[in-house]
Amino acid sequence: MSRSILILGATSSLARRISLALAKPGDRVVLAARDRAELDIIAADLRVRADAAVTALAFDAADFGAHCAFSDAVLTAVGPPDIVVIATGALGDQVAARSDPRKILDIGASNFLGAATGLAGIVDAMEARGAGHLLVLSSVAGDRGRASNYVYGAAKAGMNAYFAGLRGRLHGAGVRVTTVKLGFVDTQMVFGKPGMFLVADPAAIARRVAGLVDKPKDIVYAPWFWAFIMLIIRSIPETVFKRLPL
Ligand SMILES: NC(=O)c1ccc[n+]([C@@H]2O[C@H](COP(=O)([O-])OP(=O)(O)OC[C@H]3O[C@@H](n4cnc5c(N)ncnc54)[C@H](OP(=O)(O)O)[C@@H]3O)[C@@H](O)[C@H]2O)c1
Repeated sequence: MSRSILILGATSSLARRISLALAKPGDRVVLAARDRAELDIIAADLRVRADAAVTALAFDAADFGAHCAFSDAVLTAVGPPDIVVIATGALGDQVAARSDPRKILDIGASNFLGAATGLAGIVDAMEARGAGHLLVLSSVAGDRGRASNYVYGAAKAGMNAYFAGLRGRLHGAGVRVTTVKLGFVDTQMVFGKPGMFLVADPAAIARRVAGLVDKPKDIVYAPWFWAFIMLIIRSIPETVFKRLPL
């Protein structure tokens, strides 16, 4: 049976691989991203490789005024999606963001707020239809605020709380929400950044995310060992944690 799929942030390194892993012949796919030229290339590639009907839609997470029209355009193109993958995000300049309110807003929009506002109408339609699965790419950074990246971490923490609430709201309607808390993955987002360790292969992570479709998972750490790392990180008393150079 053909499915309808929405990929938010379709130009992301991970989203490209997830789209290819998910889309099958006959599926109806909406790829949404802000880089229109890159988006059109990815859409053309997916049409050929997956033999799917692909629609490319502009989506800027920070352009809140356009989100109702975006939601309408998605529903017109494919109806309430069977699968939604949320992959927008940006580390931003964490040091500059400490004192620049616009950068704080941009990081908040890219990582969390844009997905919440862009999907609001679509989530309502999925709830009314009583089916579907949202796969949310989040980060272990949302598990605890760290001095070196608390603006990004706060956005991901907001995302985690928002989609946890949505999971509760949609549970009775038969719509699943899976939050994937990623550790470091070798993509353009972290390329050249200092302090990276245990960096995962994006192809393996994409396979893991795509394999979660229709599985009753609520929160998944990827790779799995980050669940234990974050258990330790979360258990450190704040009076000690604030002194650590993290
Ligand atoms: N890679 C990691 O180590 C890692 C770790 C934890 C979590 N994650 C999360 O995984 C997700 C995918 O990241 P990735 O590793 O694939 O990195 P990526 O290749 O840099 O993808 C991030 C995507 O978000 C898009 N984006 C950023 N701000 C946007 C905005 N305002 N409007 C629309 N799109 C916007 C980017 O679009 P442009 O190309 O137009 O900038 C890009 O396509 C993100 O949510 C990220 O936070 C990644």
